[in-house]
Amino acid sequence: MTLVSPISYTCIPYSFLTDRILEKCSTLFNNNYGIWAHDAPLHSNNTLKAGSRVKLGIKRLRELLLFNDHCFLVVAEIRSSDNDQFQLIGHAFCTYAKYDPLNGNAVWITQLVVDSSYRRQGVAGTLLSMATNNVEDVVIAGLVSSNPYAVMSLCNACNRIPINLKFIGDHAENVIRVCNIPYLSHTQVVGSVFDKQSPLIVDIHHQPISLAKTDFFVDHNEILIILKKISKKWFLGPLLDGHEFLVVFPTSSVRRSRTTSNGSPSNISS
Ligand SMILES: CC(C)(COP(=O)(O)OP(=O)(O)OC[C@H]1O[C@@H](n2cnc3c(N)ncnc32)[C@H](O)[C@@H]1OP(=O)(O)O)[C@@H](O)C(=O)NCCC(=O)NCCS
Repeated sequence: MTLVSPISYTCIPYSFLTDRILEKCSTLFNNNYGIWAHDAPLHSNNTLKAGSRVKLGIKRLRELLLFNDHCFLVVAEIRSSDNDQFQLIGHAFCTYAKYDPLNGNAVWITQLVVDSSYRRQGVAGTLLSMATNNVEDVVIAGLVSSNPYAVMSLCNACNRIPINLKFIGDHAENVIRVCNIPYLSHTQVVGSVFDKQSPLIVDIHHQPISLAKTDFFVDHNEILIILKKISKKWFLGPLLDGHEFLVVFPTSSVRRSRTTSNGSPSNISS
């Protein structure tokens, strides 16, 4: 009989995020995220090499993803049979903020990666359910990603509510603003839901629907194959180079605030 190690999921609050944990996240990201696109050198003064792995060290992870104490991390680990150590197989960096238009909190996923050997087993969906359930009174959750499977995993975590373009148009920009994510603070939104189109578009029948112009020139070849495969059930339109899909879903968390004297929600706990 083969024993399969169960996957364990843990939410780690900001103040517990040591360099040792971030080192593991950096290794997971560097080995599994993706590669730079052919035009990445052009957009980076030749500092990025086309085809080489996109990498982030601990210092950059801290700067980009742990920018305030509302940031937290959810990890998926398995116990490795050879050395009895926990092996990191997936992580989601997240943040949250009060979101007044819907009278609750917004959760934003700032980075999501699953080890390529453990994909399509619901790891990303579970990481994101953990993330939304870690925060009280969540009413909306979102992410920016070029990967349609990241969007689908957030959809799964948000009770599989189908993508609602009007809801994205009404809330996505606001949520990005309140979550105060440094790498998205100057991002332009593009697409029909925002009534803003890009000058890059040549085919008026295939216009973007909801994109963020992140200028992140990661290789899209694999993504374009996925988009072709799922075209019948994909409602966020085409992807442009240097852009990523932008999505928000309405959701609710299992955590409800205990009514406090001033009525404000209390912070997340470990
Ligand atoms: C995107 C990523 C995190 C998904 O991780 P995952 O653990 O494989 O995702 P899940 O198993 O939770 O799948 C979520 C949904 O995506 C879809 N999906 C995922 N892999 C799929 C595949 N190979 N074929 C078809 N559908 C797939 C399914 O709809 C699935 O839900 P379902 O199984 O209930 O039908 C992973 O592919 C990854 O790390 N990619 C590289 C990094 C990246 O692109 N990150 C996102 C940037 S923020």
